[in-house]
Amino acid sequence: MHQPIGIFDSGYGGLTILREIVRKLPQYDYVYLGDNARTPYGTRSFETVYHYTLECVRHLFDRDCRLVILACNTASAKALRNIQQLDLPSLDSDRRVLGVIRPTTEVIGKYSKTGHVGILATRGTVTSESYVVEIEKFFPELTVFQEACPMWVPLVENGEYASDGADYFVRQHIDRLLAQSPAIDTLLLACTHYPLLLNKIRQAAPDNVTILSQGHIVADSLADYLHRHPEIEAQCSKHGERLFLTTDSPGDFDRQATIFYGESIQSAHLAL
Ligand code: SIN
Repeated sequence: MHQPIGIFDSGYGGLTILREIVRKLPQYDYVYLGDNARTPYGTRSFETVYHYTLECVRHLFDRDCRLVILACNTASAKALRNIQQLDLPSLDSDRRVLGVIRPTTEVIGKYSKTGHVGILATRGTVTSESYVVEIEKFFPELTVFQEACPMWVPLVENGEYASDGADYFVRQHIDRLLAQSPAIDTLLLACTHYPLLLNKIRQAAPDNVTILSQGHIVADSLADYLHRHPEIEAQCSKHGERLFLTTDSPGDFDRQATIFYGESIQSAHLAL
């Protein structure tokens, strides 16, 4: 039996999620699919993100994934609900697709003392209001402030995350977010590319502000999900295998992926 857990992202960013998932749950097999040929998703329309994401989810199903994680906030915000409610019943009701927004919004309130939290995300995620709506369900006492950071994904994807140019754009968006409320004490990096800018974000934010990346949160949530759903867990194969797929150049993927994944990967394969 080879039924890996699928991890999907618009590009490399989801590797920061996979890294934490593998650290916590190394026994499972994983297939990572990066839609590098069509990244970024953050500036694309609802329909386009939905169409691209569904195509990638179908591809992971064709590769025998019973469970797929959308490790991309924009896809989670714009495509997850439709896929869960409209497509899954006709595709295969035994399969599951999960996102990264719900696990994060279930815990974010534990980190804030002032009750003012800031969301840093792509324009697509911010305009979807998904974080505002979901946080309201779990922590109605929180006030949520959002800032779209359209330059951050291109900076990271182009290897400019440590550059002086990155300093400028990081500070610009942190300042704008904190200007909405100086009481913000928790910043969520609601895009899986942003952990690569973490050092610069720390420098730009006041010391009392907690900065949350999603990797460990999603990994904890997946472990909990598998524990609560033994019927799904039993279907996930456990040989510790990793397969990396990209819709663009496998050579480029191999070179870039190490930066996001934290260790070198087995050679990627072309998908779609
Ligand atoms: C992007 O492709 O724009 C990044 C998507 C995301 O992680 O939200």
